[in-house]
Amino acid sequence: MRIFSGIQPTGKLHIGNYFGAIKQWVELQQMHECIFCIVDLHALTVPYDTKTLQESILEKAIIYLAAGVNPEKSIIFVQSQVKEHTELAWLLNTITPIGDLTRMTQYKEKSKKFKKNLNAGLLNYPILMASDILLYQTEIVPVGEDQKQHVELARTIARKFNQRFGEVFKIPEARLPKFGAKIMSLQNPKKKMSKTDLQDAQIGLFDEPEEIKAKIMKAVTDTGKIIKYNEKLKPGISNLLTIYSLFSEKTIKEIEKKFKGKGYADFKKSLSRLLIDSLEPFRRKKKELLTREVYVKEILNQGRNRAQIIAQSILQEVKKKMGLF
Ligand code: TYM
Repeated sequence: MRIFSGIQPTGKLHIGNYFGAIKQWVELQQMHECIFCIVDLHALTVPYDTKTLQESILEKAIIYLAAGVNPEKSIIFVQSQVKEHTELAWLLNTITPIGDLTRMTQYKEKSKKFKKNLNAGLLNYPILMASDILLYQTEIVPVGEDQKQHVELARTIARKFNQRFGEVFKIPEARLPKFGAKIMSLQNPKKKMSKTDLQDAQIGLFDEPEEIKAKIMKAVTDTGKIIKYNEKLKPGISNLLTIYSLFSEKTIKEIEKKFKGKGYADFKKSLSRLLIDSLEPFRRKKKELLTREVYVKEILNQGRNRAQIIAQSILQEVKKKMGLF
């Protein structure tokens, strides 16, 4: 099966991005043909710094590698380096109703947040994402919960194209982790953990031990003292229990039992320790890769060449069906 997924280069990657996306990627690459992209064109839809964009892109490639993506098995590349993505996006624009775009949850949220920069790119964003996916005849798209709606739209666009112009695209399917598809903010556990949030609200994959400890100790908890999972009544402690479970690979029940009779402070201390130890290999590998810039750039060059071969042939088929040549 062919797998495609991507992450935007701006902002620091957090444990939500890891459990929602990257951890699945690392597992899937053992058995399937995987393509992982750094989606820099998507990042242009909200304010960003032109001076640091290239640095952020290279950093994300390092992160993919440090987290376990194997460049000998998977293709890793930068979206803007394969121009077929934008060309297909234009073609798909012509068959996508505006109403399908304005109802997207992410568009509604972002258009409120970026009122002053409400550019057309923000609205058309899911079409570019659909073209990322469809350009590679993708079957599975491993993502966190927040991207499910966009993958649904990619399916709708693919079906519509096939009906109107003839069978070209495979119909992709989102793959969410069974557990950890939506890690919540440490400061507001009713909202998802987000790269654009305050630093205290998220645990970065490469945070230093002191930062991790401070953030966990400051994490919002609920009234009461008992360490018990209840998403509605105790969203703060439930989110921390989820994080504990994901890192320790223990069930929620086992963790509740372990902390029976103990308070929030004991639980948080133990969670900080667990996170510090679990994230240590990431920090170590990232430091090592930061000194190997030439090697990382070569991986991206090779990835671009491999991705382009697939993208060119699909795009040619699409254009032919649309009567372009
Ligand atoms: P992005 O960069 O916002 O997020 C990258 C991945 O992390 C997941 N994620 C989370 N998972 C669990 N809990 C959270 N709190 C959390 N926050 C983020 C996201 O679901 C995502 O899988 N539009 C996409 C990027 C994209 C893409 C694609 C993805 C562009 N083209 C094609 C797949 C296929 C985005 O902005 O993800």
